[in-house]
Amino acid sequence: MSKGFAKRESWSSLLAFVWAGTGAAVGLGNVWKFPYMAGSSGGSAFVILYIGFLAIVAIPVMISEITLGKIGQRNPIDTFDSLAKIHHKTRAWRFTGHLGAFTLFLIFCFYSVVAGWSLQYLRFSISGKLTNISPNDVQNIWQQFISNPTEMVLASVLFVFFTMGIVLFGVKKGVEKSCSIMMPGLFLILLALVIYAASQFGLRESLHFLFDFDLSKVSPRTIVASLGHAFFTLAIGACAMMVYGSYLSKEISVIKSVMIIAILDLTVALLSGLAIFPLIFHHGLSPSQGPGLMFISLPMVFSTLPYGNLVGALFFILLFFAALSSSLSFAEPLVNFLMERAAMKRQKAVIAITILTLIGATICALSFNLWQQARLFGKIGIFDAVADLSTNILLPIGGILIAIFAGLVVKEKDFNTTPRTKIWFHLWRFLSLYVAPFAIGLVLINSLL
Ligand code: TRP
Repeated sequence: MSKGFAKRESWSSLLAFVWAGTGAAVGLGNVWKFPYMAGSSGGSAFVILYIGFLAIVAIPVMISEITLGKIGQRNPIDTFDSLAKIHHKTRAWRFTGHLGAFTLFLIFCFYSVVAGWSLQYLRFSISGKLTNISPNDVQNIWQQFISNPTEMVLASVLFVFFTMGIVLFGVKKGVEKSCSIMMPGLFLILLALVIYAASQFGLRESLHFLFDFDLSKVSPRTIVASLGHAFFTLAIGACAMMVYGSYLSKEISVIKSVMIIAILDLTVALLSGLAIFPLIFHHGLSPSQGPGLMFISLPMVFSTLPYGNLVGALFFILLFFAALSSSLSFAEPLVNFLMERAAMKRQKAVIAITILTLIGATICALSFNLWQQARLFGKIGIFDAVADLSTNILLPIGGILIAIFAGLVVKEKDFNTTPRTKIWFHLWRFLSLYVAPFAIGLVLINSLL
């Protein structure tokens, strides 16, 4: 049982929770990953499948996860434990909480590396390093950066310090406050960038690319990628949202908050596409070249634009805000875990998580240079192994467990349903207990093969 002597904090309002939850959901996944995945996995086919999976799989599981947290009002391990006991289920369910903490830690490590790139590129843009240079120079700057161990590690370390510095202040003064500043800021910057892209280059081609459905482009790969992404982007499957849910007071509606968060999250992904693709298309570049879209193709465009360094700086601030508000949702649950399970004070827990993450992030950063040759599981590099294992394997497993458990133990009264809204409870339960585990299971098997 929890040794929790510290009094638990909670969100101050629905809005505060929505900003924090949106902060978790909107991340590198939306701004960096969504555009390049859409670009390389069939454009609109990917987008439409992804929206479908959000609606029938990811949103129900997000409701499951947050509701469990809200009922439990404590860390995931103790929540699973006590709910399993009440409902006469095996206590083994609690390992879902351990699995979640491990998954969050792995994601935090590799995420900090990419987030560090956004800091470094922000510095490059502001210093004018990306202005008036040739595409070749842009390539070289990227190559030099990732092959330099010191710079790569420092950028990630700096990012980890930003994250842990905020978490040190706790739920209200740290996570909630910073998200309610960063998120509106992020929306404003994004809107400005879309308006800029639209007015300079037009949106037509990008809209076609994102929304014209072409059945021939749907492949098993697109299906796996789009469901995996729907999971990652809503920050579910690793009990992070469960911890955020455990800070909710009784009167706040989970369904309403989840709908708002999911819509804001989708909006940011689509707007990021509309900010990025017009620049890419106008310059005759291809959107399909993967992770380099943000750090190679876009800087090539910035270097040719009037006020390119300003536009570039705005892009990288956007990326940084998105990354930072997301990484709070790795760090806060991990800190909460140590506070409630190991009876640590917040300061001490923050120091412990900082040290562990610095070690993990450094290892991931070095796999781009010093340890480039190192292979895990026989064939993939360290960074890719950590990213793949956590997002393609552990998150889906966590998601299946959370969805089934919630379907088994959450009752109608936990939803505060009225006779009119009863149907939503039954629809959710069906999706969470049967549809989500089945769909996620298929995708999991596919990615294991
Ligand atoms: N949603 C974030 C993104 O799109 C990633 C993320 C944040 C996440 N918190 C999470 C993923 C918790 C899984 C679990 O970048």
